[in-house]
Amino acid sequence: MPHFTRFYFYGCSLGLTCFILSFSFHWSQNFFWSKSHLMKQEQTLASRDQLPRDTITPLKDNKTYIIAPYYDHRERNMIRILGIVHHTEVKELYCYFSCANTTVRVKADIDMHQDRFGFPYGLSDIICNEPTDCSPTHVALDSSPTENFADLISFPIQNRNPGSPTASFTVCFSAMFGNYSNVLQFIQTVEMYKILGAQKVMVYLNNCSRQMEEVLQYYTEEGTVEVIPWHIQRYLKVSHNWRYPDDGTEIGYYGQISALNDCIYRNMYSSKFVVLNDQDEIILPFKHRTWDSMMESLQRENPNVGIFLFENHIFPQTVVSDGNFTNTSSWNRVPGSNLLQYIHREPDRPDYFNARKMIVDPRAVIQTSVHSTLKQYKNFKNIPLEIALVYHCRGPLQGDLSRSSLIKDDNIWSFNEPLIRNVNNMLNRFLT
Ligand SMILES: *[C@@H]1O[C@H](CO)[C@@H](O)[C@H](O)[C@H]1NC(C)=O
Ligand SMILES: *[C@@H]1O[C@H](CO)[C@@H](O)[C@H](O)[C@H]1NC(C)=O
Ligand SMILES: *[C@@H]1O[C@H](CO)[C@@H](O)[C@H](O)[C@H]1NC(C)=O
Ligand SMILES: *[C@@H]1O[C@H](CO)[C@@H](O)[C@H](O)[C@H]1NC(C)=O
Ligand SMILES: *[C@@H]1O[C@H](CO)[C@@H](O)[C@H](O)[C@H]1NC(C)=O
Ligand SMILES: *[C@@H]1O[C@H](CO)[C@@H](O)[C@H](O)[C@H]1NC(C)=O
Repeated sequence: MPHFTRFYFYGCSLGLTCFILSFSFHWSQNFFWSKSHLMKQEQTLASRDQLPRDTITPLKDNKTYIIAPYYDHRERNMIRILGIVHHTEVKELYCYFSCANTTVRVKADIDMHQDRFGFPYGLSDIICNEPTDCSPTHVALDSSPTENFADLISFPIQNRNPGSPTASFTVCFSAMFGNYSNVLQFIQTVEMYKILGAQKVMVYLNNCSRQMEEVLQYYTEEGTVEVIPWHIQRYLKVSHNWRYPDDGTEIGYYGQISALNDCIYRNMYSSKFVVLNDQDEIILPFKHRTWDSMMESLQRENPNVGIFLFENHIFPQTVVSDGNFTNTSSWNRVPGSNLLQYIHREPDRPDYFNARKMIVDPRAVIQTSVHSTLKQYKNFKNIPLEIALVYHCRGPLQGDLSRSSLIKDDNIWSFNEPLIRNVNNMLNRFLT
């Protein structure tokens, strides 16, 4: 299959929002989510004054942007630093560790992820072996081997003490951007994830509407959502395309791939499974009522598989169906689409790449792309349509198809009762 069709969906996998432009802006570091995020870093770094200021931190060369270092012992004791790197201009990087009373410098191996799609910047794994007889808590980086450790920004190393998983399923969205305001669909989607068995939803937040911020605040307080500030366009010219249009932009699709990989590593030990899909997608099981029972059965049948791929199917929001719903009148007060009205899906096109989304064992993944992993320790498996599909509710891809050419699929309605009840409970608290 040719490479370009394989990634057909990239540019628009956030549905309608992909056409909305976002402006460059500065927002206060004092929002509820970034504050607690920074406070955590400040506590561990109280003795230093060179702190990372954001989820994305530029190095002095302005060609390397550090997301976070993660301790990784799966092959050997190494520090894997996720960073967005210029593909030709960053040739050397050095890790600086503080060990006992001395600074230990280690030359990094820069492993750029294969899926850069022509953009000048892409995600890299910057890998430094851990110095022997030292378990550093922080690492600093520079392109020169002769810097003074104290002058460099020092990043806390994550995942040193894994502990045991606190979640069965964590959902990772890539960047939410462009005044995202599909509030009702977002609430329904999060409530569906909770019904299916998710404990946590990670939102890499670039931009959204005011009301959407309130919803994120609500779910943050509830403990369901964790917002990661993602101000990537402060540093790089972001593209709305997944593939480089040769227009002077620097990184594809708001750094989607960087956010997804960071999400895997952030949740590597805290979550049994990580679900990689967008905010307009739900992996909908047919034979099981929950992700837990579905994954238990899939794992039992496929013990060597760590990456489970589910077929993506478009339920176009241009074809509306009225259901027999009671008790949904409060939904009219919330802007956005109502998932329960979309029960027709587009047929697959034989000559196109039909995308898949993933549920992964994060400990089996080294590098991920959007529709498949790139490097992994376990096998992958395509899960057949009888088991589940990705219910992808958005604008049409095949807009010329009439209702009768679409496939009627009202499986989402088998969740009507708990979904309506839970959305109503949420709205009762949220709207009052
Ligand atoms: C990097 O960017 C900062 C802020 O724009 C600027 O002050 C600095 O001179 C730049 N450094 C290099 C090496 O280009
Ligand atoms: C570190 O330095 C302190 C005092 O400067 C000294 O007492 C200690 O033995 C040193 N530790 C190591 C591991 O070199
Ligand atoms: C989104 O962008 C608008 C326009 O620049 C800005 O006013 C708003 O504060 C931003 N919201 C968030 C959550 O970043
Ligand atoms: C963001 O979206 C909301 C809801 O659709 C709208 O009221 C608001 O004007 C939009 N803001 C911007 C900056 O476009
Ligand atoms: C609508 O739903 C109610 C209760 O859920 C049921 O009693 C009724 O038969 C349904 N009507 C139709 C036309 O399906
Ligand atoms: C509608 O909601 C009320 C209270 O919220 C509840 O008592 C009633 O059973 C619900 N009706 C249906 C058909 O779910």
